[in-house]
Amino acid sequence: MTDQHAERRAPAKPPARSTTRPSPGEDWTQWPTYNAATLGFRNYWYPVVWERDIGDKPQAVTLLGEKIMVAREGDKIYALKDRCPHRGVPLSHGRREFPGTVSCAYHGWTFDLESGNLSAVLTDGPESPICGRLSVKTYPVEQRLGLVWIYVGDGEPHPIEQDIPAELLDNDHVMGGKIDLRAGNWRFAAENGFDEGHAKYLHNTALWRLFKVMPAWNKTRVAEVGPWLIRVQDEVHWEADYPGLGTWSNKRWWKRMPLPDAPGKGKSVNPVIAGLDIPGFVSIRLPGLLRVAYPHFIHYEWYVPVDADTVRYVQMMVRFESGAKGLLFKFKYLSAIRWLFHGQFTAQDAWMVDVMDAPPEKLYRPDLSITGWRRLIEKARPKPQPYDPASGSPRA
Ligand code: FES
Ligand SMILES: [Fe+2]
Repeated sequence: MTDQHAERRAPAKPPARSTTRPSPGEDWTQWPTYNAATLGFRNYWYPVVWERDIGDKPQAVTLLGEKIMVAREGDKIYALKDRCPHRGVPLSHGRREFPGTVSCAYHGWTFDLESGNLSAVLTDGPESPICGRLSVKTYPVEQRLGLVWIYVGDGEPHPIEQDIPAELLDNDHVMGGKIDLRAGNWRFAAENGFDEGHAKYLHNTALWRLFKVMPAWNKTRVAEVGPWLIRVQDEVHWEADYPGLGTWSNKRWWKRMPLPDAPGKGKSVNPVIAGLDIPGFVSIRLPGLLRVAYPHFIHYEWYVPVDADTVRYVQMMVRFESGAKGLLFKFKYLSAIRWLFHGQFTAQDAWMVDVMDAPPEKLYRPDLSITGWRRLIEKARPKPQPYDPASGSPRA
């Protein structure tokens, strides 16, 4: 069966299961909120699709395990639960018969996009007694930064601005971005993003780093600044001798070195980035947003939970410029950054997120970035989306 309405999914992967039982300290029970968040956290705004990709035709998306139909009417985009209450057919298969409505493909039950109310039943005539007595759930939707954001939560949502880094809302910028569905739980993707240890090893083969040396190892701590947890480098080592084994380094004759160890310390730093005054390159915040600040641009990535084994990976490379400099960046993004960084480099991350299987785990010193992130969550106590492992769906 071909299904042009369904999203293109990451290749299916059997659910990760460990056969060994973790010893105390090797599993995630000491982080109960995090441990429960297989499907992420409720009560946040999540970026889901590009605005430009949503037209009149309904589309299906899955967010925190919830199946949602998205469709446009003029400038507004609407999101409804993707299930017709009649016989359970997804509304994303439906048609648009009247303005502001969607009609289920099976028997033509027609729902108002704004309210979700059943406003007509096309196969039962204008006097249909069920009309007006049913509705489907609607989701709050906003459009910012060229993206469609959907709120999954309880009650009235907070302003979306609280979930978007202020520098993106307050400054002119140009942006290139990419959205992919990737295999693996969203927590593995978030931990990989904030992971102190791997970049120096996993990514030393990335073309994006072909001409730039990465350190061999660092001594790092984490610092909380506002909503962010930031990795701060106290020591950066470019090579090291391993007794009896030899020297290991990422230095090569053709690579430039070194990068400044904090974005504000470079010789020339974009004023917006300098103004952020952040003590380290890499920051993370709830509900799963990473910020990697370079002297001239910032890379953001959102790890948006789809289901237990799939994450929506929303990458944005932002330069705080306009005019000719902005245009030049756009060109650089489309010709190089999109392929080298948002492509091959982060595909190495996707590979690891897909194949890793934890817990159990035995953590090492650099993993203080990961445990710091888990601790931040325990402190903030966001509300995990209920998860039923038997069905793989959110528990009703
Ligand atoms: S299942 Fe939707 S109208 Fe019948
Ligand atoms: Fe990485």
